[in-house]
Amino acid sequence: MTALARHLTRRSLFAALLLVGSGALLLPLAFGRMAEAQARDPIVARSVCDAQRLKARAASNPQLEIVVPPEFDRLFPTLEACESHDAAWDPAAPGHDQPIPFSHKHHSTAFGIDCMYCHTGADRSSAAGVPSVELCMGCHAHFPAEYDELEGIQILKQHWESGKAIEWKQLHRLPEHVKFQHQAHLRAGFDCQSCHGQVETMDKLHVTPDTKFWQYGLPTQKLEMGWCVMCHRDNGASQDCLTCHY
Ligand code: HEC
Ligand code: HEC
Ligand code: HEC
Ligand code: HEC
Ligand code: HEC
Repeated sequence: MTALARHLTRRSLFAALLLVGSGALLLPLAFGRMAEAQARDPIVARSVCDAQRLKARAASNPQLEIVVPPEFDRLFPTLEACESHDAAWDPAAPGHDQPIPFSHKHHSTAFGIDCMYCHTGADRSSAAGVPSVELCMGCHAHFPAEYDELEGIQILKQHWESGKAIEWKQLHRLPEHVKFQHQAHLRAGFDCQSCHGQVETMDKLHVTPDTKFWQYGLPTQKLEMGWCVMCHRDNGASQDCLTCHY
């Protein structure tokens, strides 16, 4: 190769590199245009929940064009059910990630199901108890098949078929050396909220903080001894060690 030829190939290589470089610069611009064009295309729903969310968006934004295929144009699951389902599994929200994203807000507020319907032990025994799969299915077995779109409902039905209990993670847990009885407190006239907070507003359940200060000027936390003792003192209940300890 002559020196000139070598010089030329190096120059064409440089030119090629320059082309590729500017191409890389132009590429995002081109994609940007495509994305813009796509935004003007109607948005197609891919599930019933997706359709519910799109319908809600379109109701507040008439410019938005949506397409809901007939198989997803259903009344159920409702938008609220879809949103609560996802919120109950939001990893950023406080509380345990449960095996099924069960929302108290949805069941207790949207559907007005009484606390005692599911926590049947609260007025009769020391433990309030958590409902069985059978109790859940007492309602859910009669729901239309569209609900199977929700992963939580699929998991519920798997438990129903396999006969395996759902292992809910317990939130409130006192140490073994402490006695606590629900029924005594309900008899005394307290509602669930006075100890558990506004459960009916929570998608994902969590322990609510207690903002009261007790006699030593310290803030108490729910389930701490100071929390129990303070309420016992305020309500004339026993503060004897053996009332609460074995
Ligand atoms: C008294 C009837 C009833 C019982 C009992 C019941 N559900 Fe529901 N559930 C409903 C209704 C009604 C909806 C909402 C339907 C809608 O809005 O589309 C629902 C919605 C749901 C959803 C979707 C919304 C959410 O909360 O994530 C899940 C998951 C669910 N139920 C699981 C359960 C489980 C688990 C149990 C038992 C611990 C249970 N349900 C017990 C009536 C019931
Ligand atoms: C449809 C059934 C259902 C209804 C109605 C219901 N719950 Fe629950 N509850 C559950 C299930 C299932 C769990 C376990 C999963 C969880 O923690 O979300 C639970 C858990 C709880 C816990 C936490 C238990 C622990 O681990 O410490 C409390 C507290 C509670 N419920 C209070 C209430 C109150 C108060 C109401 C009424 C406002 C209520 N629940 C209504 C099904 C129900
Ligand atoms: C005086 C306070 C107080 C009241 C009122 C109260 N709870 Fe509790 N709850 C507790 C404490 C404390 C625990 C933890 C008990 C333990 O670990 O032994 C608990 C635990 C629970 C649990 C999980 C363990 C279990 O007992 O099954 C559920 C579910 C529950 N409560 C539901 C309710 C419901 C529903 C009501 C209303 C009908 C209610 N609670 C009223 C203080 C209270
Ligand atoms: C919201 C107020 C309140 C809170 C919080 C509270 N208690 Fe009580 N408790 C009472 C009252 C009032 C009585 C008296 C009931 C009666 O005389 O029938 C009582 C009674 C009791 C009893 C006696 C039950 C019986 O056999 O007569 C025990 C045990 C007990 N509480 C344990 C606890 C423990 C443990 C805690 C904390 C984890 C706690 N309590 C939190 C108000 C409360
Ligand atoms: C109204 C109920 C109640 C009464 C009355 C009560 N306790 Fe407690 N106690 C608790 C609870 C609930 C706990 C567990 C939560 C905690 O550690 O704060 C506890 C925990 C304790 C612990 C263990 C603390 C630790 O760090 O593990 C000791 C020790 C104790 N109590 C001693 C006493 C003595 C002594 C008395 C009588 C002067 C008494 N308690 C009266 C409810 C009570």
